[in-house]
Amino acid sequence: MTRRTEIKQALAAQGVDSDIVVKGWVRNFRGNNFVLFVALNDGSSLQNLQIVFDREKHNAEELKKITVGCSMSICGKLVQSEGKGQTVEVQAETFEVLGLADADEYPLQPKKHSLEFLREIGHLRFRSNTFGAITRVRHAMIYAIHTFFTERGFYNIHTPIVTGSDCEGAGQMFHVSTLDPKNPPLAEDGKIDYSQDFFGKETNLTVSGQLEVELACMAMSKVYTFGPTFRAENSNTSRHLAEFWMIEPEVAFNDIHDNMDLAEEFLKYLIQYALDHCREDLEFLQERLLQEEKSKPESERSMPLLEKLQFVLASDFERLTYTEAIEILQKSKPAQKGQFKYEVKGFGTDLQSEHERYLVEKHFKKPVILTGYPKEIKAFYMKQNPDGKTVAAMDVLFPQIGEIIGGSEREADYEKLKNRIEEVGIPMKEMWWYLDTRRFGTVPHAGFGLGFERLMLFVTGMTNIRDVIPFPRYPKSAEF
Ligand code: 4AD
Ligand code: MG
Repeated sequence: MTRRTEIKQALAAQGVDSDIVVKGWVRNFRGNNFVLFVALNDGSSLQNLQIVFDREKHNAEELKKITVGCSMSICGKLVQSEGKGQTVEVQAETFEVLGLADADEYPLQPKKHSLEFLREIGHLRFRSNTFGAITRVRHAMIYAIHTFFTERGFYNIHTPIVTGSDCEGAGQMFHVSTLDPKNPPLAEDGKIDYSQDFFGKETNLTVSGQLEVELACMAMSKVYTFGPTFRAENSNTSRHLAEFWMIEPEVAFNDIHDNMDLAEEFLKYLIQYALDHCREDLEFLQERLLQEEKSKPESERSMPLLEKLQFVLASDFERLTYTEAIEILQKSKPAQKGQFKYEVKGFGTDLQSEHERYLVEKHFKKPVILTGYPKEIKAFYMKQNPDGKTVAAMDVLFPQIGEIIGGSEREADYEKLKNRIEEVGIPMKEMWWYLDTRRFGTVPHAGFGLGFERLMLFVTGMTNIRDVIPFPRYPKSAEF
């Protein structure tokens, strides 16, 4: 028995007229009284492999089993194709339908389906061209991320998913508990007695691996975590998920400027990697976006995907302070004309994505890194600047996305950090281990978090974050 050849390999075959076994799912078929043409896909490539069945050679009843969506195995000859649209095809000698697909029930027909519809059939959407392309690009990006850090001497740290600290302040958390919700044990004060819970304390799903990855950083110097993070905010937007993946590097001896350099180098590396390794899928996604935006007026259409990626590679990210950005925004046309949904009041205003996108898309026309945010709107662990008002935070802002990265230099001074923790009212008993790093050999250090699905949105040109993760989790949705 010949081994299965992946369709990607079959399509790239140089020598033809060889015996071959291919297996996959039928995407489409057509034919006449003499031949049947089947388009077979096994996920290895965007392209289908054409299988030709000579009706005389095969049992008619068996051929009837072939429908869109069925799975099959074919032994045949890989030959040069005379038809248009492919260079090679397989002349079937024997075949077997492995799994039937009821033609009346199968929801994924060989036609264009809306992304909303594909989301409803999340169990099957991997079989669509769009989702296949996204799946391959997503994998390439995961691989590139680990490669980038490996080549630079970073260690990957698995930070915990269940956490006992609720102090990052990055968002609402999901409770983790094995107590009976109908009848939880109560303490004397009438509150739930979490000392009787599984971990002996209140626990949640993590919003970020940062605090723990900082601990590793204080010995290993260059570390990163890449894991799932959870935020229970009720934000039903095209850029928010309740469960998303985040890449968080943390580097000892780096300051905020090194941090910005690393973020820019990292993003450019990933975009270059996608261009170098995912060409076919990106070209398909570029075409998809063109079709989607056809009905829009020209001025509202986005740049073609590949051009946009090249453009970001070629630009130096604009670096400026939050205070400078506020000035630009206040003087901007949309602010003057009252076109922003959220007013830019001045220093202290938390920037919304409409403001971030204005800076990137209209004002600078390239990615932007903002630093020096007011300490009140940023997390407690960020390094306090000498002005007493701002912290060494940085947000990287991208076209169409807004914030793609958030990070900072960390407060390395024990007293300053302790004071800030008290100011914002975090219970000290939860923070002892984090504070200890500043007691025992503290060093300047910095890090950031890249939202993996935000990166995926940018690289694939997709517009809804629910379409770049296999199984999206968002309010009222956890079906598949
Ligand atoms: O800015 P955030 O909240 O930063 C942190 O969590 C820090 N602990 C990171 C660090 O310094 N190590 O989140 C980082 C990034 C954002 O810039 C955004 O790209 C993404 O995570 N992000 C989300 N992506 C999808 N859905 C959500 N609900 C997201 N919230 C944040
Ligand atoms: Mg942020």
